[in-house]
Parts: sequence; C-alpha cells; structure tokens
Amino acid sequence: MTKKIAVLPGDGIGTEIVAEAVKVLEALRRDFGLSIEMEQALVGGAAYDAAGHPLPEQTLALAKAADAVLLGAVGGYKWESLDIALRPEKGLLGLRSELGLFSNLRPAILYPQLANASTLKPEVVSGLDIMIVRELTGDIYFGRPRGIRILENGEREGFNTMVYRESEIERIGRSAFDIAMRRGRRVCSVDKANVLECTELWREVMTRVAKDYPEVTLNHMYVDNAAMQLVRAPKQFDVMVTGNMFGDILSDCAAMLTGSIGMLPSASLDASGKGMYEPIHGSAPDIAGKGIANPLATILSVAMMLRYSLNQAELAGRVESAVNKVLDQGLRTADIYTPGMHKAGTAEMGDAVVAALR
Ligand code: IPM
Ligand code: MG
Repeated sequence: MTKKIAVLPGDGIGTEIVAEAVKVLEALRRDFGLSIEMEQALVGGAAYDAAGHPLPEQTLALAKAADAVLLGAVGGYKWESLDIALRPEKGLLGLRSELGLFSNLRPAILYPQLANASTLKPEVVSGLDIMIVRELTGDIYFGRPRGIRILENGEREGFNTMVYRESEIERIGRSAFDIAMRRGRRVCSVDKANVLECTELWREVMTRVAKDYPEVTLNHMYVDNAAMQLVRAPKQFDVMVTGNMFGDILSDCAAMLTGSIGMLPSASLDASGKGMYEPIHGSAPDIAGKGIANPLATILSVAMMLRYSLNQAELAGRVESAVNKVLDQGLRTADIYTPGMHKAGTAEMGDAVVAALR
C-alpha cells in the first residue's frame, strides 16, 4: 500500500535540507520499490507569511491524514517580535500536540569518522550511543495557567506551569523501557525530585513502571547532575528518559558530544507508531540560503521514518550506510569540516548520499 508522507520544510535552512531528504526518498521510490506519495505544505514563519498562521488548517489536515511527516525547521529573526501565539514555534508545538506525538526519540551517536569534530576528547566520546527519550506533549511547554499578568503594584509577572499526570509519565516511561529492551537495557530517568513535586511524582511512577521490566536497570539522576555527567562521562548512558523541558536542554547538550548538531535526527511518535521526523537542529537563519547547511540530520530522520513508521528497516539501514559511506569518502559540510577533508555544500552532500544508496 502506498504510504502518504507530508513534507513540511518550514523556515530558514529547512527548505534546503528537506530538499536533499526528498531526493533520498525519491531515489528509494525510483530504484528500491518504496511505495510513497509526498505532498508539501507550509508551516512556521513561511505559513504565517502566506496564510497568517504558523499552522494553517490545511497543513494540519495534511499532517493528520499522512502516515508520516517530514519536517525541516521553523523560526527566524523575522518573526521574533510576533505575538507568542503566532510565532513559528507554535506551528511545531501545535503539530506535536494535535498529532499526539508524546514520545520523542533523539539518538546521539558518534560517527567514528567525526571523532575529531567533537569539542570533547576522542576517548571521552568515541563509541558514544545514547538514546534520549523526551516527553513531548506535556510539562511546562503546555501546562496551564500560563501568561504574563499585571500585579496590583503595576509590575508584570510571567508564569508557567510544570505539570505531569501519572498516565503521561507512565506512557513515556514504557516507551523508554521498551526501547531499552532493544538496546543496552539501562534507563536513566532525569528529574529534579529534590525540588519539584511534579518530578517527585515522575520519579515514583518511573520506579513503578520499572517493575514491569525486570531485565532493565533503572537509575535516577537530577537534571543538573545529568548535564554535568553528559559532558564528563557520556558513555555511562544508554537510554535517558525525561520531561519536555529537561529533554529539550539535555538533547542539545548530547548532540554536541557528537561533533555537530547537524548530524542528529529525531522521531516523534504517537501511541500507534505514526510519527513526525525532523533534524534536532533549528532553522539556522544565519546560514539560510547559502547552500552550506548539513542535510545529514534530515536524511537520517528519513532513515528513522523508514524504520519506525514505514516498516522498512532494510531501507533504513541502506540510508544509514549511505551516510557512513559519504563520511568515509571524506565529504564534510562546514559544521563538521576538519582540515584535509573535502568541503561539500548542502546539495553536493545530498547527491553523494543518493549515489551511495546503491
Ligand atoms: C526542539 C526545539 C523546539 C523545542 C523549539 C523550536 C520550539 O528547540 O525541538 O528541541 O523547544 O522543543
Ligand atoms: Mg531544542
């Protein structure tokens, strides 16, 4: 059966990197029998400019009807002064919550070819393979009440609410433990249970969920310590599970261990395995339009899509090997460039991956 893919390039470098990922999907359709249909739509600032809203009805309907969504990135200087409800980021957050994509998988894998590109010593990061499981539809990102209010003395006060229900903690816990069963069977749950009741409950529920997974070892870590451990001795981690905000921060930190945030894909899944796939980096308005952005995170997001939503593990492996091959060939975009390598632009990198699929 033909699978439907909604393609949402978004803003900034989003359009450039998604174009390369689409080349890969097209090559898989043409040469490897992948049965897909792709349709593009606007999201983020581009959608605001064209339709007055970062997540137009049409885009949401397309995403809902699709089997999987491929997203580039949203945001840019141009839209920073808009009301928060109309900012490009709301397009992304709206997709996550409207599609119920509560489980966000952010692998941080060090490609041996890039060991020198990391700012950490090669011996600290070589062989690194962490999976961050970030809860994506709850926490302070969506909690109410929220806003900016005026106090009696006329001073303004900003406020947000960190909130998690047991059922939300439990389902992300199960996601993490299920993944750990297929990997190193260790889960580190990250919280701030020494200060925040919300995460005290988080810790209690994680401990309860762990009882159903006797083969998996669970430990708990406070988020400040986890940030430190990630740069001190990152290889101690297998699966890390955490809430929306801590996961946002820790996943950028973990990304940098691997040399470049330009290498890391992500999957955001609902309860049935439908997903949205996007690089974990942002829209990088400073380099947009220059043809120098790294398309590999988006191409690797296609690999995750093939594996998690399209049931094409063999093709997923093929895409991942192709990425390895181009790195072996010495191709490097600016973000992962080291002297002696061949500096490639966005399209050259994408074409090289397509060529390496064979
Ligand atoms: C991410 C991003 C988003 C987030 C922004 C763009 C809203 O930083 O996907 O990590 O905070 O979740
Ligand atoms: Mg982030």
